[in-house]
Amino acid sequence: MPAPDPQTTHFGFRDVPLAEKQGMVDGVFHSVARRYDLMNDLMSGGLHRVWKDIMVNTLNPPKGDHAYALLDVAGGTGDVAFRAALASGHGFRATVCDINTDMLAVGRDRAAKRHLDDRVSFVEGNAESLAFPDRAFDGYTIAFGIRNVPRIESALKEAYRVLKPGGRFLALEFSSVEVPGLDRLYDLFSFNVIPQLGRAVTGDAESYRYLVESIRKFPKPAAFADMIRGAGFARVNWQTLSGGIVALHSGWRL
Ligand SMILES: C[S@@+](CC[C@H](N)C(=O)[O-])C[C@H]1O[C@@H](n2cnc3c(N)ncnc32)[C@H](O)[C@@H]1O
Repeated sequence: MPAPDPQTTHFGFRDVPLAEKQGMVDGVFHSVARRYDLMNDLMSGGLHRVWKDIMVNTLNPPKGDHAYALLDVAGGTGDVAFRAALASGHGFRATVCDINTDMLAVGRDRAAKRHLDDRVSFVEGNAESLAFPDRAFDGYTIAFGIRNVPRIESALKEAYRVLKPGGRFLALEFSSVEVPGLDRLYDLFSFNVIPQLGRAVTGDAESYRYLVESIRKFPKPAAFADMIRGAGFARVNWQTLSGGIVALHSGWRL
C-alpha cells in the first residue's frame, strides 16, 4: 500500500492539500458564525450545554480569589469560557483564542451582554502556533475545535508548551457512537437532518455536511489519547458521553 502523502489531509470526506484545509475551515465558520449558537442548540437538542458543563466541572477552576488563567482555544463564540467564568471565583481570567474573526466578534458581543468582558477576552490566533509565552496558563480547553485544526500534533505541542507544570489539558470532541441501534439513528440524523437544518437556518447545507463528515474522520478515542501522550502529557484518559457521541479527553503537564 502506498504511504499516505504527508502533504494531504481530510476536509470532511475529501482529500485536500494540507496547506488548503485551514482556508476551507475558515470559510465554514465565516459562513455560519451568526447562527452558530442557535444551530448548536437545534442540532444537539441543547445537549452541547450539558457536555460543556461536564467539561467545566472536570476542569474545576478555583471558586475563591486564587488566580487562575484559562486558555480556551478554538473558543469561537465563548461558550466554554463563559461557563468556566460563571463557575469560578474572582481570580479567574479566560482568553478565548480563535482563528476566525467572525466567531470572535459574536463572542465579544455575547461577553459584553453578559457582563463578562472584564474576565473573558478574545484574541485571534492559530492553535498550531500560539502567540503566548511558555508556561502561561493553568488550564487549556478546546471544545469541538481540534478536529478542524489541520495539524493536530502541532496544536497539542502548543497546548503543552503554554501550560504551566501542573496545568490541565481538556479536549471535548465528537467521537464515534458504538451503541447498536443508536449508531444507525445517529448516522441518519447526521447525514440527512443536520445538512437540511443547516440549509434552513444558515442557508448553508455544505458547511454542515463538512461538520458531520469531519466527525467521522476524527481519530477514535484511544488513538487521540496516544496523540495527546505523544505531545508530552501525562495521566491521559477520557470519558465518553451520550453513548459515545462525544468524548472528553484529559491530560496533565507535570
Ligand atoms: C465547532 S467551533 C467550536 C467553538 C466553541 N469551542 C464551542 O464549543 O462552541 C470550531 C472553532 O474552531 C475554530 N478553529 C478552526 N481552526 C482553528 C485553528 N487552527 N486555530 C484556532 N481556532 C480554529 C473555528 O474558527 C471555530 O470557531
